[in-house]
Amino acid sequence: MKNELLTNPLLPGIRFWVCEDYYAMSRKAAAIVGGAMQQKNDFVLGLATGSTPVGLYQELVGMYEAGVLDFDKVRTFNLDEYYPISREDCQSYYYFMFDKLFSRVNIKKENVHLPDGSAPDPEAACKQYEASIEPVDLQVLGIGSNGHIGFNEPSDSFIYPTHVVNLTANTVKDNSRFFESADQVPRKALSMGIGTIMRAKSILMVVSGRNKSTALREAFEGGIVPQVPASILQLHPNVTVVTDREAASQIVSWT
Ligand code: PGA
Repeated sequence: MKNELLTNPLLPGIRFWVCEDYYAMSRKAAAIVGGAMQQKNDFVLGLATGSTPVGLYQELVGMYEAGVLDFDKVRTFNLDEYYPISREDCQSYYYFMFDKLFSRVNIKKENVHLPDGSAPDPEAACKQYEASIEPVDLQVLGIGSNGHIGFNEPSDSFIYPTHVVNLTANTVKDNSRFFESADQVPRKALSMGIGTIMRAKSILMVVSGRNKSTALREAFEGGIVPQVPASILQLHPNVTVVTDREAASQIVSWT
């Protein structure tokens, strides 16, 4: 089955690609990231962690191995990191990114950036990270089942810059699948803010599975509210959402 492009005249900055399954979603997302990287040597790529982009990163590694992609001049900025956590901890997002992508391609270590989960002063680490972020050409995002992007959790207001986050019980529960028990999930994180994310020139959101279908519908078919942080993306001029059929199953106003 071919990937299906859905649009909505009310939101001209947003395109949905509905793909058959996770594998097709990952390939489509990699084609978008790879295509954009090929246009510009010193590409600035915003990256996300979580299980959804793993297939995308595998595809990018495959493209690198096939000689189609070169990471030599690429610079990356990740959305978030747990706090407190050391880079060597196999649960850290630093570790995840090296495991899934950075150690498998020719990116330079000095060109990869994540918030410092081991900084003694987390507020200062957030300020320093925010100041270090270059204009991002393309930001990869997932979405939480509660509608979060990065670790911008549902709240009463949108928080603009990189900041310290208290993870919600919902996110601790969702992420406990990566840990031996929920007790081991760090309760805080350092996350790019909504403003940081919205500054990216383009955004690619990858979404997979039925457990994301409500969050996806609320983000793109409901009001723009901080209780659904991803809904802010309706205001961005260049968003591509690549989803599998299950995640798109509740979308009705896109054709
Ligand atoms: P997941 O996380 O890909 O592991 O579902 C997505 C997110 O929380 O942004």
